Amino acid sequence: MELSSLHPSLRNRVVFITGGATGIGAALVEQFCLQGAKVAYIDFDSESATKLNQQLRTQLGASPWFRKVDVTDVDALRLSIVNACEELGPIHTLINNVANDDRHSPQDVTMESWRECLAVNLDASFFATQAATSGMKDSGSIINLSSINALLGPENMPGYVAAKSGLIGLTKSLAKDYGDRNIRVNAILPGWVVTERQLDKWLTPEAEQEWSKLVALKERIMPEDVAKLALFLSSDDSKMITGQSITIDAGRT
Ligand SMILES: NC(=O)c1ccc[n+]([C@@H]2O[C@H](COP(=O)([O-])OP(=O)(O)OC[C@H]3O[C@@H](n4cnc5c(N)ncnc54)[C@H](O)[C@@H]3O)[C@@H](O)[C@H]2O)c1
Repeated sequence: MELSSLHPSLRNRVVFITGGATGIGAALVEQFCLQGAKVAYIDFDSESATKLNQQLRTQLGASPWFRKVDVTDVDALRLSIVNACEELGPIHTLINNVANDDRHSPQDVTMESWRECLAVNLDASFFATQAATSGMKDSGSIINLSSINALLGPENMPGYVAAKSGLIGLTKSLAKDYGDRNIRVNAILPGWVVTERQLDKWLTPEAEQEWSKLVALKERIMPEDVAKLALFLSSDDSKMITGQSITIDAGRT
């Protein structure tokens, strides 16, 4: 966990991250703490959040604000945003990171499983944005974690791919809605990022070998690489960038 570049505009900025306990979310929490931002995050995995907070306290002396929330409960999601604002101040940056990329054959999808998939992968980002932007002052940044799967459309992820494609459209549309309040909205489209969950579930050595044949850069994309792009999109260095979908995929697309 080390600081590779400093963004002075991020110091004391309130940053709210959904799904921050593991994977890319945990890297976002760490990287914003390293910049001296006031970090709040939510997740339904409180065990991983406890471990992350212990690690950040030991290594950085940081204590990010955490609440256990299932984002499919929109009232609880909204309340967590209100509570974070009351305790830390108005949110400047919201990172809609939460997701669930479970695979399903289209024929196995039910009305209920479809709704559940969109609730996590799309609805939560919209309602978190609506809640966070209500309290934003002067300027703000919304960062939506989409995926290159929205461009490639792989098999057995119809709901996930629909949601991630939806986030690209939502990014464009909300950038127009919020531009006159100086709130920027951008999307990040990562390629295959090496998280523990990906290694446990899908990123087998064979899959990684296949992936490496398709990319220009042969190194693994790590969660920190994605988090560092989010630092830039939150900072004043990107103050004229909005409505954009930015790919970080080692040259896969
Ligand atoms: N890892 C990749 O290769 C990759 C590639 C492209 C896009 N992305 C996107 O980047 C983002 C982060 O990816 P990741 O791989 O770290 O994701 P992940 O699935 O490993 O982590 C998501 C976090 O969200 C939490 N979460 C899931 N459902 C929740 C719910 N209902 N309520 C509250 N918390 C919940 C999980 O506990 C976890 O901490 C996601 O939006 C993902 O779609 C990831």
